[in-house]
Amino acid sequence: MRTAVVIGTGLIGTSAALALTERGTTVHLRDADHDAARTAASLGAGTVEPPEGMVDLAIIAVPPARVGQVLADAQREGLARHYTDVASVKAGPRQDVLELGCDTRSYIGSHPMAGAERNGPLAARADLFDGRTWVLTPMPDTDTETLNAALELVALCGAVPVVMDAAAHDRAVALVSHTPQLLASLVAARLEHAPDNAVRLAGPGIRDTTRIAASDPRLWVDILSANAGVVADILEEVAADLGGAVSGLRAMEAADAAKRGEGAAAVADVLRRGNVGRARIPGKHGAPPTRYEDVAVLIGDQPGELARLFAEAGRAGVNIEDVTIEHSTGQQAGLVKLAVAPGAVPTLTAALRERGWSLR
Ligand SMILES: NC(=O)c1ccc[n+]([C@@H]2O[C@H](COP(=O)([O-])OP(=O)(O)OC[C@H]3O[C@@H](n4cnc5c(N)ncnc54)[C@H](O)[C@@H]3O)[C@@H](O)[C@H]2O)c1
Repeated sequence: MRTAVVIGTGLIGTSAALALTERGTTVHLRDADHDAARTAASLGAGTVEPPEGMVDLAIIAVPPARVGQVLADAQREGLARHYTDVASVKAGPRQDVLELGCDTRSYIGSHPMAGAERNGPLAARADLFDGRTWVLTPMPDTDTETLNAALELVALCGAVPVVMDAAAHDRAVALVSHTPQLLASLVAARLEHAPDNAVRLAGPGIRDTTRIAASDPRLWVDILSANAGVVADILEEVAADLGGAVSGLRAMEAADAAKRGEGAAAVADVLRRGNVGRARIPGKHGAPPTRYEDVAVLIGDQPGELARLFAEAGRAGVNIEDVTIEHSTGQQAGLVKLAVAPGAVPTLTAALRERGWSLR
């Protein structure tokens, strides 16, 4: 790819532009807000000068509701040989593209599965898509050259392509992203008026399940409004499960032992199904989930402690697969759990004990 235009130089557009520029593509930047395009250019993402002729690929990185119109205008202008968008939902833009009579042979939908808490060009990074999945949703008549141009974009951005149908994509992101966002918010919302001494008991469970509840509500209303029907369908299924769990819990309080048994079985069923679903989440690098074992180490709250601990594991020849840190409320210490391959546990524990670390 020698030349590209990025339309919409926010977080995603500027990140793609930075990655392409780093790999030698000449990138032209456009945004309805000229300051955003100029800011992207000042970060080294490309030039605000218009291209002299047709570019190889136009990347449309505007909000989902604007994709169709921007594509129609760009095609009318003859801007590029191939076009893609990066919107987080695919069925709505696809419908707009069809209704506006765009040329669908030179267009392919796409969605890089990467983001950040902040929007705008200043939050952009050239390595934002490194190792991430990038979904491609071709139209039935998308040309092979257009698919190849999109594959080249994905490769230049260091991402991994996955081809999917637009509706299947929207259901998938509703399952793995949009519904979890709402459920995390609902769980965290229970704490809004909880007494301080109750909130102080918060441990890693509530921290893990509510981490994404800190997201920006305005951004999420935009995302959810573009996939509202699909998310509502899934939430209705969750609501049916919730109803079952509530009935089960009520039955667990019954005087009748048989009823209590039925209630416990219903609740156990929800928990068991949760185990099955959780076990299906892919592990590192998309591989099937691997069972690691935790080595728990108590560390002081001082600069350099984590680095010292990691260096110790490195010296022992042990690869750290994952790390979690539990901070206990009101104490200047944390419990670091190093997830390692089961075979590495004896080596690591022996090495850490020898060097005076406090293991739990
Ligand atoms: N933020 C994420 O985590 C994320 C992840 C994957 C995909 N996406 C998708 O990427 C797209 C861009 O999101 P973002 O996070 O970069 O948003 P952003 O707000 O950072 O940037 C969007 C940019 O588009 C510009 N714009 C809006 N309408 C325009 C138009 N008609 N013509 C030209 N420019 C226009 C805005 O001025 C803004 O600079 C969206 O479709 C979003 O769904 C976002």
